[in-house]
Amino acid sequence: MATNRTFTMIKPDAVQENHIGGILGMMEAGGFRVVELQKLTLTAERAGEFYAVHKERPFYQDLVKYMSSGPIVAAVLEKDNAVADFRTLIGATNPAQAAEGTIRKKYAKSIEANAVHGSDSDENAQIEADFFFGK
Ligand code: CMP
Repeated sequence: MATNRTFTMIKPDAVQENHIGGILGMMEAGGFRVVELQKLTLTAERAGEFYAVHKERPFYQDLVKYMSSGPIVAAVLEKDNAVADFRTLIGATNPAQAAEGTIRKKYAKSIEANAVHGSDSDENAQIEADFFFGK
């Protein structure tokens, strides 16, 4: 995948509270184009696999439970400098530290239920996009 793509998920809390449109709207207003989009519910096994990098962290079991608790929306987004610009748009992982105008400032409820995921590197954007939309 070129460096102009990133991967995102709208997480169960935000889907449950009817914020799919509001969040996708902020992404589009931020200059991102949706190139892949799917609403689905992860099994605990798939959620655990997606977040395997965190499996030694104390929050891992709760994270897997939360991410498989209801539907999510997975998407691939396109924009110049996508990974870095998208992380700016979503804001800090902990919404208490998220800047004004960011998606997490507006929609996140806690450090776990933080409304959206965004890839942290071009390499992970490719891996995460393939996890959902793979060849
Ligand atoms: P995300 O950016 O998807 O990457 C890992 C996720 O773990 C994070 O968002 C949160 O949903 C969740 N999480 C829960 N607790 C923590 C924590 N203390 N630090 C980082 N991430 C956490």
